[in-house]
Amino acid sequence: MAINEETKIDSNNEEQASGHQEVGHKSLLQSDALYQYILETSVYPREPTPMKELREITAKHPMNVMATSADEGQFLNMLLKLVNAKNTMEIGVFTGYSLLATALALPEDGKILAMDINRDDYELGRPIIEKAGVAHKIDFKEGPAMPVLDEMIVDGKYHGTYDFIFVDADKDNYINYHKRLVDLVKVGGLIGYDNTLWNGPVAAPPDAPMAKYVSYYRDFVLEFNKALAADPRIEICMLPVGDGITLCRRIN
Ligand SMILES: C[S@@+](CC[C@H](N)C(=O)[O-])C[C@H]1O[C@@H](n2cnc3c(N)ncnc32)[C@H](O)[C@@H]1O
Repeated sequence: MAINEETKIDSNNEEQASGHQEVGHKSLLQSDALYQYILETSVYPREPTPMKELREITAKHPMNVMATSADEGQFLNMLLKLVNAKNTMEIGVFTGYSLLATALALPEDGKILAMDINRDDYELGRPIIEKAGVAHKIDFKEGPAMPVLDEMIVDGKYHGTYDFIFVDADKDNYINYHKRLVDLVKVGGLIGYDNTLWNGPVAAPPDAPMAKYVSYYRDFVLEFNKALAADPRIEICMLPVGDGITLCRRIN
């Protein structure tokens, strides 16, 4: 997500207004109590210690609302194991919660190309990732993801090489990422696009009251969701985990 000072303020207000003040509390469930039940019964008791530590450090960050939620981290970790992912990519790292969930799921020789325009936030999480013994799987590139993808597309050797790609940045560019990523992921591999339910207002009338940043990105998310549904190269599954994640399985 491209975030300026104004959207930072909006996003904080939005969280407070909805009562979702806890870090990573992006659940679309109707009841906060039910979400809390999921976290306390099934997520926190099984959360690996380094992920807990990273979540707690991230909670002190003024932009903690950007972090992947603990239940989504648990989901990604299991999904990656289920598909035996080895070569992966992440666009949008922040302090590294989803990155750590991924790194812990991959085999010792697994690889993650991780991209973010901001290295400082990644540096907050990096000592924990190192302590967890998984930093060797991560190739962090600072800068916008698109030029890197463009280079990979031109240099044909990366086509069809990724088992899993997680996209969690720059929502107004999802459609442009998809054009490239669908060539870079393996046939049978997965791309996960985060925030595809965009706080819920994807299903609200356009004139419904919503924070400025929600309203700005809503149209991009709506168009993107339609484009995925119409793309014959992939199978899709939209899950109401976290803020909505759409899994795309490349079929040809
Ligand atoms: C929602 S956060 C990612 C959260 C992260 N997945 C986690 O588990 O906490 C979005 C991140 O995308 C980064 N970002 C924004 N625009 C970007 C771009 N064009 N290329 C790469 N990263 C970008 C931001 O700096 C921010 O750290």
